[in-house]
Amino acid sequence: MALPSKVKIVEVSPRDGLQNEQVFIDTSVKAELINRLADAGFVNVEAASFVSPKWVPQMADGAQVMAAINRRPGTIYSALTPNMKGFENAIAAGVDEVVIFGAASEAFSQKNINCSITESIQRFEPVAEAAKNAGIRLRASISCALDCPYDGPTDPKTVADVVKRMLALGCDEIDIADTIGTGTPTRVDRVMKTVSELADPSIFSGHFHDTYGQALANIYAAMQAGISIFHSSVAGLGGCPYAKGATGNVATEDVLYMMHGMGVHTGIDLDSVVDTGQWISEKIGRRADSRAGNAIAAKKS
Ligand code: HMG
Ligand code: MG
Repeated sequence: MALPSKVKIVEVSPRDGLQNEQVFIDTSVKAELINRLADAGFVNVEAASFVSPKWVPQMADGAQVMAAINRRPGTIYSALTPNMKGFENAIAAGVDEVVIFGAASEAFSQKNINCSITESIQRFEPVAEAAKNAGIRLRASISCALDCPYDGPTDPKTVADVVKRMLALGCDEIDIADTIGTGTPTRVDRVMKTVSELADPSIFSGHFHDTYGQALANIYAAMQAGISIFHSSVAGLGGCPYAKGATGNVATEDVLYMMHGMGVHTGIDLDSVVDTGQWISEKIGRRADSRAGNAIAAKKS
């Protein structure tokens, strides 16, 4: 399939990128990160997580973060909501899109959200209904769509089963997530084509962690399979607390460099994202994990 002429990049660093940081990051830093990203042109920023603060302490200030940001008109600010409690807190904080998050593997579902896949869908049902009633966008994320750190390789048919259940809940968008970054392009092609038999490919996104350095190749494969939404994290920040050794999402700077180099429109200013990647890395005391970002920053200095 021909490459899309434009893609939507969902910037997930304020949530996926920061959730695993051990030292608490000030609310003002989180808010500035979100503001910088929205100003750079992202139309969708994953801003917060309304989960148990005992499970993920770094995300405990979601409401304060939402209150501190400048709401850029047209930007969708999303947040993770695993249950009704999360949903109610997210709505009170003024999020534009709620994200229910499940898994295509039983073991990961238990470790991450403390219930089976079937129980998770039961928890999502009222969230989905409430989102529809409130006229809020509903997204679903499916972890371990390629491999599970506990159960091994995931059969694309299992992913398709979970997709069917998410579609039945009325999800507007569904993330196919490679949580531990072990997927390779031919397997990404297979899973994307399998799920695209259930709904238009335009509703699926690729959420690829870059642990094994496969994410850009996987994005390219997904684009050839008809996918046009991708998640990325500035400076490659991130990791999942319930997937040992999993590193960050693919770095936004690398994705933008590749897209723009291929003439694929993103609407995002790469230069300003590079600056933000260097800024946030300095704030949290590490070197930015983006090849393109560091190369561009070195040229500038
Ligand atoms: P649980 O213990 O089964 O829930 O946790 P519970 O309903 O029995 O409640 C236990 C306690 O948690 C209670 O408090 C509740 O009030 C509280 P206590 O009475 O003990 O003081 N609680 C909450 N507090 C705040 N907000 C809430 C909430 N719900 C319950 N929403 C739960 C179930 C899902 C809440 C828990 O397992 C949890 O928070 N897990 C965190 C999951 C998480 O955030 N993981 C990382 C994000 S997912 C990810 O990174 C993957 C992704 O990037 C895609 C990919 O790469 O694969 C999306
Ligand atoms: Mg993730």
